[in-house]
Amino acid sequence: MARLGEILLMNVVMTVVTAVVLGGCAGPDGPAAADDDVQPDAGVDPPPPPSGFALPLEAPTPVDNPATPAKIALGRLLFWDPILSGNGDTACASCHDPRTGYSDGLRTAIGTTDASLTPPNRNSQTILNTAWNGAVASNLIPSCEQAPMFWDSRAHSLELQARGPLTAAAEMMGSTYTETTIFPEVLSRLSTIPAYVTQFEAVFGAGPITEANLLKAIAAFERTLTNPQTSYDRFVAGELTALTPQQKRGLDVFTQIGCPKCHGGPMFSDYKLHTLRVPDLPGATHDAGDGSNRFRTPSLRNITHTAPYMHDGVFPGLPQVFQFYRNATQNPIDPDLRGVRTPTPQEAPDVEAFLGALGDAPFDASIPAAVPSGMTPGGAR
Ligand code: HEC
Ligand code: HEC
Repeated sequence: MARLGEILLMNVVMTVVTAVVLGGCAGPDGPAAADDDVQPDAGVDPPPPPSGFALPLEAPTPVDNPATPAKIALGRLLFWDPILSGNGDTACASCHDPRTGYSDGLRTAIGTTDASLTPPNRNSQTILNTAWNGAVASNLIPSCEQAPMFWDSRAHSLELQARGPLTAAAEMMGSTYTETTIFPEVLSRLSTIPAYVTQFEAVFGAGPITEANLLKAIAAFERTLTNPQTSYDRFVAGELTALTPQQKRGLDVFTQIGCPKCHGGPMFSDYKLHTLRVPDLPGATHDAGDGSNRFRTPSLRNITHTAPYMHDGVFPGLPQVFQFYRNATQNPIDPDLRGVRTPTPQEAPDVEAFLGALGDAPFDASIPAAVPSGMTPGGAR
């Protein structure tokens, strides 16, 4: 099989550059079309071809929710403030903590302390680069409104996703409130805190604090949590020494054994649902994903920060994931698993090293010293 570097063409890089320059939230007809006219200058040795897609530097934003520094700052406080939870004990950051790659390091999430509620049965996904959810090779700048969210892609857009945990009893809402009463309660709490009133008015204009504006501010903050300049991104942008020899070997193995059939494109995800038949946690009730046992291909960016793995966190590390694919590729139901194989024990360390290169760029890991409610940032658990 050809090496990845030989398969992909120069116009890929030109596409990425075009995408970066145009920015913005384009639809399917956006700037992803390949530019076939670009040819290297005659007589000059062209640089070696790139081997994939770099993540553009600027994340897209929806037309109705442009990012401003004040909105992002407000969204950051809301993300960390447990005042948004029914019992005042849980914040978004409780399960999406920068110290664990904006996930939580747990197999399955733990939400509000309310003991009467069954905790969530899913692994907390990272927020990092969710601004890019939906970006695939053929559509590098995804629609913010259509961006798929959750392990089963049941919600779309960061704005609408944020409603999910706020109205999930076991995550943030608790058992005192209902989907109808939680927002009036939270909005009335915020409107008694002068720092929130001032900031909402500065960002959204005079008038009461609304649910839509609350969700917009949180989403605007989340879109800043990206780390596009990993060693891998620098490598595909032409900095050929950005990957170590071992990481380059890992990239070639990853490609040759077929992982990019699903983990391809700039996010290392096709954003499609697949049937892998990941085992249930011992004693857990079966999670049927989208209802047909399908789960969305997760991005592999920052993967080495976000163990344990899979929708139920059943695998503590990458060796167990590789072991899983050894069996899963034997009698696959999913057509995209056919012809795929897992790395050999000799190849596995190289693939792990390569996956590390997908998450070695810095991201905003700052934690606010205080939030306007006066509660403990990130919750008291
Ligand atoms: C109790 C832990 C918990 C809390 C609190 C929580 N989340 Fe999550 N988050 C999760 C879990 C678990 C998932 C995956 C759920 C699923 O697939 O059904 C998730 C998924 C997500 C995703 C989807 C990522 C992707 O790639 O699809 C985003 C975005 C997100 N959360 C943002 C937030 C925001 C914003 C808040 C606060 C309003 C929040 N979360 C509060 C546990 C939590
Ligand atoms: C048929 C599509 C497909 C192929 C091919 C595929 N994967 Fe996956 N991958 C998925 C899906 C879907 C999940 C999530 C499954 C779940 O949680 O139930 C996943 C999960 C993972 C995870 C865990 C991610 C996380 O955040 O928990 C890793 C690591 C991974 N795959 C690596 C690989 C490697 C390495 C290969 C090549 C040997 C590979 N995958 C081939 C679709 C695929």
